[in-house]
Amino acid sequence: MITQTQFRSYFDVAGQRLFLNHAAYAPLSRPVVQAINNFFDHRQQGNPSQWSIAEEHMEGLRQNYGQLVGSPSERIALMANTVTGINVLATGLNWQPGDHILLYADEFPANVMPFLNLRERGVEVEFLKQDERVTPELFEAAIRPQTRLISVSSVQYLTGYHADLKALAELCHSRDILFSVDAIQSVGVIPTDVLDLGVDFMAVGGHKWMMSPLGTGFLYVTEALQSQLKLTYRGYMGHVNPDDYGNFDQELSPDARRFELGAFNASGIVGAEKATELLLECGLKKIFSHVRKLLNRFETGLHKTSFELMYDFSDTEVSGICMFTHSDTSCNQSVFDELLAARVNISLRGGGLRIAPHYYNTLDEIDQLLAILKELG
Ligand SMILES: Cc1ncc(COP(=O)(O)O)c(C=O)c1O
Repeated sequence: MITQTQFRSYFDVAGQRLFLNHAAYAPLSRPVVQAINNFFDHRQQGNPSQWSIAEEHMEGLRQNYGQLVGSPSERIALMANTVTGINVLATGLNWQPGDHILLYADEFPANVMPFLNLRERGVEVEFLKQDERVTPELFEAAIRPQTRLISVSSVQYLTGYHADLKALAELCHSRDILFSVDAIQSVGVIPTDVLDLGVDFMAVGGHKWMMSPLGTGFLYVTEALQSQLKLTYRGYMGHVNPDDYGNFDQELSPDARRFELGAFNASGIVGAEKATELLLECGLKKIFSHVRKLLNRFETGLHKTSFELMYDFSDTEVSGICMFTHSDTSCNQSVFDELLAARVNISLRGGGLRIAPHYYNTLDEIDQLLAILKELG
């Protein structure tokens, strides 16, 4: 087990900046950078087993991803980012003209563009929004006989709203609709169990809450959905025996690995394997309860400043993201600029200010931020 204090000691950024921006990207920890450097040292020295070493790291990372979302590792394919995973789904289904997809209107484009690309095949994409809540009721009212897919973010990047994925999955399955989730804003901070949630498909990028290098991530797909997906791209790594180069007749892997193509982002994978190993050793329940403790402190302290919370979510709707604003929203840009100059990293999103702390952040850092906000107010 890794304690919070130990975990914090891995981050050079701690003590140098108030880094509270993990919904955008995360700083790498020292063990992660070390693992990557070791891997490059091997390559630099021409280690003859570097390919098989890299393959072992792929399998190690696949296991870690599986553990992070409660999935057997066979259901995981390594991907370069979220949107590549979503494209596997969007391009792999056998769409018919008139098929209908439902999306929440404020999704991040990674969960939109792959589906908009299907319009040229006669697929209709409909956007829904009543307010900041992404609920089963919102979708239920818009379902038609032609609706084939609903795809949502587990946590909305513009609000921090954490959707009830289990209820959404139940709704979808009661209507014979596929349910897909962009989970980049939750995996690595919120405990996740895909089998319990009942999602059909999940795509996740590594560079935010999983604290991994850019160009890493994965998709999760059920066996049932995989059997409906044709391969838009076919490589050689996704076959039963990828090293048997002359055997063109071999079968595709029965696992989700079939979606992997060729030579891969091995250094990123090595870093992601280490980063996810550390998160698993910290424990996801501990991580999320710590992050909520930090955000609760922030939300309580904010009342004493000229800033206010933008949303009031219940305990089951909260996430690692908190959106807030100056009482005069036109000040948010200059507040953001001043925070950056004071070595505070947060995000400006949709006109509001977004903080997203991780496990190595402390209550003291939240108090420091509140003090700075009070001064700026
Ligand atoms: C909800 C959501 N999905 C996806 C992404 C990123 O997509 P990708 O991993 O494809 O770069 C982001 C943020 O950058 C996001 O907030």
